[in-house]
Amino acid sequence: MKDEYQFILHPSSFILICFGGRGMHKVGILTGGGDCPGLNAVIRAVVRKIDNAGGTCLGLLEGWRGLLEEKTTALNVLETDDIIARGGTILGSSRTNPFKQAANVSCAVENFRRLGLTALVAIGGDDTLGVASRLYTEHQLPMVGVPKTIDNDLSATDFTFGFDTAINIVMEAVDRLRTTAESHRRIMVIETMGRKAGWIACLSGIAVAADYILVPEVPVDLDHMCGVLQRRRAEGKLYGLVVVSEGAQLSAGSVVTADASIDEFGHEKLGGIGQNVAELIDKRLQIETRHVTLGHLHRGGPPRAYDRVLATRFGIKAGELVVEGKFGQMAALKGNDIHAVPLSDAVAQNRRLDMRYYEEAREFFP
Ligand code: F6P
Repeated sequence: MKDEYQFILHPSSFILICFGGRGMHKVGILTGGGDCPGLNAVIRAVVRKIDNAGGTCLGLLEGWRGLLEEKTTALNVLETDDIIARGGTILGSSRTNPFKQAANVSCAVENFRRLGLTALVAIGGDDTLGVASRLYTEHQLPMVGVPKTIDNDLSATDFTFGFDTAINIVMEAVDRLRTTAESHRRIMVIETMGRKAGWIACLSGIAVAADYILVPEVPVDLDHMCGVLQRRRAEGKLYGLVVVSEGAQLSAGSVVTADASIDEFGHEKLGGIGQNVAELIDKRLQIETRHVTLGHLHRGGPPRAYDRVLATRFGIKAGELVVEGKFGQMAALKGNDIHAVPLSDAVAQNRRLDMRYYEEAREFFP
């Protein structure tokens, strides 16, 4: 396919027009929303798949802003070959939402055509993919999605890439906190990211043998938590680990939000519940308690092998969907297989924590 060309004899002028090969596909790629480990692995895989099919790729810089402002960069196989090991995204990211203003939507559609794109691969979470889905259904732009987020809260895929690396980062951090908590006989409260889904807190909490896990899906029961911590201490465990998701809810009004501002997709900045929980435990149990907010550490550094492989498989699938002209679809993991699912299904609703994981975790803090 790579070096194939199509020849058309133009009927009116008898001019031989030659196109195809590298001219066939010109695929835009963008990364939007919070960055996460594995984005570069997807970019590399899409570039390679499209190159194998004889096309070219154009990077749009800083998410949807790149399309609105025509900020682009050429992407080729050689320059993207070793980016798999790099965290973040070589394209930059932003939380720009073209649907905030009608004029921006027409600008996006116009620029798509002016750049000569034949398809666009959007790598993002529910916000970025929500935009892609609307550009596809409302403006017929040929979009393909790839599910990214450390939060793992996208529907229609079993897992998103970035999540595995994030929970491993939490695990490594807590393994370090454990030794100092134990030395000082303290309780350590670790606040994780994850927005309104408890995936990160629950799975990392299981992995570090947390004494208690607080997730947004389960109302916080302070009495129960303090009872468990007290009991464990009485049994001889002289330190404690509590993992709390940033989106967990204390009783009305007592959740601290780090910043009242909201982004272009209407999300508030979360953060602060770890400190609240630590203060409450300290006060109620009279046990020295500290808190650590892991924050953006979750998203930093190189992806782990699992995420590199998953991101690569997603990228290849996305490239394949482009080549086959199957738009309005997203690459998704179902069991061990990569499938195509409608973008609209992926963004229809947030995927909360599968409660079976929480039930298993609860065996350790009945
Ligand atoms: O969606 C990913 C995420 O890391 C959330 O877990 C977190 O609440 C949010 O992004 C933080 O966003 P920002 O990078 O804009 O502070």
